[in-house]
Amino acid sequence: MRAIQCVEWGGPELLQLNDVASPVAKPGEVVVRTRAAGVNFPDVLIIQKKYQMQPPLPFIPGAEISGDVIAVGENVTHLAVGDPVLALCSIGGFAEEIAIEAARCVKIPPGIGYDVAAGFMLAYATSWHALVDRAALQAGETVLVLGAAGGVGLAAVEIAKAMGARVIAAASSDEKCEICRAHGADETINYSAEDLREGIKRTTGGAGPNVIYDPVGGKYAEPAFRSIGWRGRYLVIGFADGGIPALPWNLALLKGASLVGVFWGEFARREPKGQIRCMTELFGWLLAGQLKPLVSGHYQLADAPQALVDMAARKVTGKIVITP
Ligand SMILES: NC(=O)c1ccc[n+]([C@@H]2O[C@H](COP(=O)([O-])OP(=O)(O)OC[C@H]3O[C@@H](n4cnc5c(N)ncnc54)[C@H](OP(=O)(O)O)[C@@H]3O)[C@@H](O)[C@H]2O)c1
Repeated sequence: MRAIQCVEWGGPELLQLNDVASPVAKPGEVVVRTRAAGVNFPDVLIIQKKYQMQPPLPFIPGAEISGDVIAVGENVTHLAVGDPVLALCSIGGFAEEIAIEAARCVKIPPGIGYDVAAGFMLAYATSWHALVDRAALQAGETVLVLGAAGGVGLAAVEIAKAMGARVIAAASSDEKCEICRAHGADETINYSAEDLREGIKRTTGGAGPNVIYDPVGGKYAEPAFRSIGWRGRYLVIGFADGGIPALPWNLALLKGASLVGVFWGEFARREPKGQIRCMTELFGWLLAGQLKPLVSGHYQLADAPQALVDMAARKVTGKIVITP
């Protein structure tokens, strides 16, 4: 089978499209023929040895997939050949086939396409865990989402709306802001054109948001935290801007505010019942039409490096997928 391999640490240009042996299902595993693989920012980091998980070389990047089960190992009871599934695999997704623990696979509900399914779990479950579980967001509260047109950002916009919140989406262009509005944002801030603090003041009447969702970090974090509302919850999601921010602690005191860490992968591992509740609620919203995931680009397997280049260059909106 064909697969994208990372054979040395570095940028996407070093990735190789190679023929490798097809996987075989060990006990407890299934083999899935990949129909689509979601692209996520950690894929950009992992090939450069900049991610918390550093697999031994060579490895196949790609953290989540959708496809059809084509082989079932011993002791697998809940899946059969032919079942359409989505799965978080961490690595191995940018390939025509993947062997994966059956327990990590979720059957795709009827009516949901492979491309939507491939990009759904990581982005939407992260944002559900952040907003529902960590921030305890209430209907009527105001949420500010930074990097709001990106993968986890747009998922946060949609989930916050589904929860009855007022959503302010902040992004780096008018085009990205327009996409956020189309996905439910009530107000937008183009932080390339308007000072972020001025934009927050304008859109919250000076009160500041109750919750801030931040997958960007870097230079936006401190100004955003300075503008948070009384008893605000600041969700630390990621650092797409590259810099890990540092905050003067007095800012938390002055607003009675909390800095709240979010690590969805660890939540799913440590709290499997919570993760089942998460996916059940998300599929419910998805099938009811309250979530409308945006898949803005499809790339052939050979073009996977270009997909990562586009993501690193902030050209991606919503999700993009590789279709082997
Ligand atoms: N905590 C968790 O459990 C968890 C789970 C999944 C992902 N994450 C993290 O969340 C972050 C976003 O992931 P994603 O898959 O949603 O990525 P994405 O689709 O590329 O979105 C990231 C957004 O960040 C903004 N950005 C600002 N500066 C950037 C820069 N220098 N390079 C790239 N983007 C920049 C961009 O929006 P603008 O152009 O509008 O600024 C972009 O849309 C990553 O740091 C990822 O590691 C965390």
